[in-house]
Amino acid sequence: MIPSTEPATVLVTGGAGFIGSHTCVELLARDYEVVVVDDHSNSSPGAIDQVQKLAGRPLTFYRADLRDRAALDAVFEAHPIDAVIHFAAKKAVGESMRIPLDYFDINIGGTTSLLRSMHAHGVHQLVFSSSCSIYGSSAKVPLAEDDPAAPTNPYARSKWICEQLLADACARYPELAVIALRYFNPVGAHPSGKLGEDPLGLPNNVMPYLMQVAVGRLPELPVFGNDYPTPDGTCVRDYIHVTDVADGHRLAVEHLADEPGLRVFNLGTGTGVSVLELVKAFGEACGRPIPYRIEGRRPGDVARLIADSTRVEREWGWHTTQDLAAMCGDAWRFQKLNPHGYGNLSSSEEL
Ligand code: UD1
Repeated sequence: MIPSTEPATVLVTGGAGFIGSHTCVELLARDYEVVVVDDHSNSSPGAIDQVQKLAGRPLTFYRADLRDRAALDAVFEAHPIDAVIHFAAKKAVGESMRIPLDYFDINIGGTTSLLRSMHAHGVHQLVFSSSCSIYGSSAKVPLAEDDPAAPTNPYARSKWICEQLLADACARYPELAVIALRYFNPVGAHPSGKLGEDPLGLPNNVMPYLMQVAVGRLPELPVFGNDYPTPDGTCVRDYIHVTDVADGHRLAVEHLADEPGLRVFNLGTGTGVSVLELVKAFGEACGRPIPYRIEGRRPGDVARLIADSTRVEREWGWHTTQDLAAMCGDAWRFQKLNPHGYGNLSSSEEL
């Protein structure tokens, strides 16, 4: 990060979301000034309240869609932004198969709008929230950054297209420094139990679904497919604690000034866990078995995704600190303490 006596100001798009909110806590704890832009399309104002309580410091919040250039420009004009962390995006694989154009519009359009505002205001440092999903159905295990991208669904394609357009922007604007973090499957919650994953509506991802089954909001977990070429037939993923992912973003901000251009890093544990293993671990964390039923495969899913995170370990000394038991234990604590999540109305109900 820029050496300065003043605390650096970081704009976090999607800062009310699951990974964004945990990253804001980490940044506030390290004395950064934090400005959040979020449209609450899949997040709650309650998350921002909790971030500020946990950090014991305020942040500045703007409710806006990134494609609203005038709103975004006003944020850049009001704050001396040094760097941006860009989380705001839609992120559900199944949904992306149903409404691909929304994914392209919001994920890619949001990113280009942000780049335009950054460029117009002389901001050259960006951490981009990318995804392991860009590797697609590669049979290679584990996956390293130089392995080929082969997205299998519109969500993954939107992330891969963003990485490519960021590379093009860096080629044109040599002062631009971009770090894309490809994280595997972030789960867990803040160890306080005050901050966690609280999707609006029926959860798309396995961990929030498990949490809501455990607390009695949903009857059982549908397990999508048990005929994959994996040891127990269910999909294998590299689950990573959200606080380890948040720490990776804080480190990325600190390393933005190292060199210009686009750099890409995986964030994962290197350990594969099947859906049934996750169900068992979560049952142990909450003290009772989680009911589940086997269903058909979910379109767009791949059998196995496991990270090779050697690059980020070697270059920044980053490594994960939390195991699967901590991921499940912290997620369960959040759900137990907040059985109805942050308890806010959905954004459509508020209108
Ligand atoms: C996907 C992306 C990942 C992204 C994440 C963001 C892919 C391959 N991965 O993760 O990059 O960061 O979304 O949300 O595109 N499952 C069930 N029952 C459920 C829900 C899920 O069995 O109710 C299974 C899925 O089939 C999958 C595993 O659990 O095998 C994990 O699913 P999920 O939590 O949705 O994450 P990914 O699809 O792996």
